[in-house]
Amino acid sequence: MTATRIDGKALAAEILAESAVRVSRLRAAGTIPGLAVVLVGEDPASKVYVKGKTAACEKAGLNSWLHTMPADTPQERLIAFVKQLNSDPAVHGILVQLPLPKGLDARAVIEAIDPAKDADGFNYVNVGALVVGEEAFYPCTPWGVMKMLEHEGVKVEGAHAVVIGRSTIVGKPMAMLLLNAGATVTVCHSKTQDLPGITRQGDILVAAVGRPRMVTADMVKPGAVVIDVGINRLPDGKLCGDVDTEGVSPVASRITPVPGGVGPMTIAMLVANTVTAAERRAGIGAPGSRIT
Ligand code: GUN
Repeated sequence: MTATRIDGKALAAEILAESAVRVSRLRAAGTIPGLAVVLVGEDPASKVYVKGKTAACEKAGLNSWLHTMPADTPQERLIAFVKQLNSDPAVHGILVQLPLPKGLDARAVIEAIDPAKDADGFNYVNVGALVVGEEAFYPCTPWGVMKMLEHEGVKVEGAHAVVIGRSTIVGKPMAMLLLNAGATVTVCHSKTQDLPGITRQGDILVAAVGRPRMVTADMVKPGAVVIDVGINRLPDGKLCGDVDTEGVSPVASRITPVPGGVGPMTIAMLVANTVTAAERRAGIGAPGSRIT
């Protein structure tokens, strides 16, 4: 067996094209959806990510604004700026790129974002709605993974899904989305005993750890669908995921590549969430719709 590659780039392009159609409808009704991205500090990886996000917005016909602030920005100034974006009618989605520089309280900043503009789905209102299984803005990376599974026709209901990583951005919301879709979910983390013994039970295995190629063939159930959320930069400058793709491919049935797998989906779902926020404000689309 050699695992089929799941083409996240192609699916992301489809979702962006759908978003562009939705944007045309909004523009015809007098609304141009807009995403405000806030980057604090000089983290090189974050700079690359936010560039990708604003570029995707422009491609789909949205407005986007990249606001950069110095690493020593005081907490109150950052929160005051977020509040200014909350009250700006041209802004439908707000994203504060994480991680924030030391000394800034990311949770307090996220909670300052109006939940109706929380395109990342990170604030308590949206996290709470996800936990109780209601419509919400879902965090873009795990939401993108669900879209990939759906598009691939992977049966989630009744499957055993194993998530490695318990971050607030990926692992926890990933587990919750899979659970809401009817999977039996196990979440593994740095304190988990016998990690390979557990990961080998996963019909769906999601790796979201941030450790290059840590998922090896012996950790994968034959025929499993393997989703690699990791984006790690190697000393030679090349990117690799959390999964040893070459080693795991002969064992898995499907696998996401890095790059070109989950990464583009994160951006596509951010655009989709921003368009949804604009549709809600404009009263276009089904109530509470997330359409994508
Ligand atoms: N840092 C890494 N991933 C993300 C993301 O999805 N959103 C934000 N705001 N910051 C991130």
